Amino acid sequence: MAVPLFHNGLMVHTQSHDYPIVITENSAIKNNSMAKQIAPHIGGRQVLIVTNDTVAPLYLKVLEEELTEQFTVKVCVLPDGEQYKNQTSINQIYDTLMASHFNRDVTLVALGGGVVGDMTGFAAASFMRGVNFIQIPTTLLSQVDSSVGGKTGINHAQGKNMIGAFWQPQMVLADMSTLKTLPARELSAGLAEVIKYALIMDADFLTWLEANLPAMMALDLAILGEAVKRCCQYKADIVAKDERESGVRALLNFGHTFGHVIETHEGYGNWLHGEAVAAGMVQAAELSQKLGWLTVEEVVRIKRILTLANLPITPPSIDVQTALSLMGHDKKVKHGQIRLILLKSLGDAVLTNDFDAEILTDVLSQHST
Ligand code: NAD
Ligand code: GLY
Repeated sequence: MAVPLFHNGLMVHTQSHDYPIVITENSAIKNNSMAKQIAPHIGGRQVLIVTNDTVAPLYLKVLEEELTEQFTVKVCVLPDGEQYKNQTSINQIYDTLMASHFNRDVTLVALGGGVVGDMTGFAAASFMRGVNFIQIPTTLLSQVDSSVGGKTGINHAQGKNMIGAFWQPQMVLADMSTLKTLPARELSAGLAEVIKYALIMDADFLTWLEANLPAMMALDLAILGEAVKRCCQYKADIVAKDERESGVRALLNFGHTFGHVIETHEGYGNWLHGEAVAAGMVQAAELSQKLGWLTVEEVVRIKRILTLANLPITPPSIDVQTALSLMGHDKKVKHGQIRLILLKSLGDAVLTNDFDAEILTDVLSQHST
């Protein structure tokens, strides 16, 4: 299904409802506000803004003040970090909702990166068996990926994003100007997911990125906005076809099976999600090359663009058996077999278990102790 575009965004079609992604450059300032953009998508009178202690000092005040003109607004400020993406933080959200005497009329507003967005979405999916929520993603990674498509959840000590729900937001508001305060390392982590779309879906976009990555890293908001829009189009197209990941949506996890091993093994928060995905994409590309699908030069091209984005291309040293055991928890494992997203060619990905176990072991052992 083609994704309908409008001048500053696009619509996402899902089985539960359709919703807009609005891409702006300046809604974080007063009088051109985030509140004005999201208010029409808030059904009831109650609003809970969920954010964290890094983002709150940057963007909460104006949003809270302006929403308070129309709604009863409460705020839940979580500790910042992937290590807090857990049940304790979800309980903190429930506790604030209960203490505020909020009910099914409430709309939760996620103000922050993917960690805040995933947890707010999960709290929204489960509070009173499901209430509305809105995503205001403030990292590049969350603007191009996690805020779109309705995957919500928390981590388990033995596996990333193991507990969660599919729950779609009422809208997504991505303001490019919020990226001005984002640390450069976090911008790079977002670029990993941007590069991922090119590798799995569109080789021409890879060429576009090779030309435009320097402008994106220099915070050219127009170029960033164009990249975000393209990525959201790719994702919306896939989500419309396969919301619950029974098929094509799995391709969005390119590099993630290897990446989740890195994140879990190294301890949540030590390797950023995007960094782990970058090194994981190289491992998946190396495996694709061993199967004869990619050339050596194409793997070098992938490493070059990731390096240009200041991303790691080598995973940390992890014992092969440990890596295989962690991979065994992957959500794509079927009938006990590890399935991986691999590249048939640049811009063309497949989900497959059609590879010899030794080839996977080979790739893993290149970086094992
Ligand atoms: P994050 O949410 O941890 O944000 C990164 C850091 O930037 C944090 O310290 C945050 O407080 C800070 N920050 C956020 N916005 C800022 C701003 N504008 N200025 C300054 N600092 C800011 O990380 P992330 O990369 O946004 O998201 C990663 C998470 O997303 C992981 O938990 C991952 O599993 C999840 N994810 C989910 C999906 C999905 O489909 N739901 C997809 C990809 C990733
Ligand atoms: N980030 C993978 C997905 O949303 O399916």
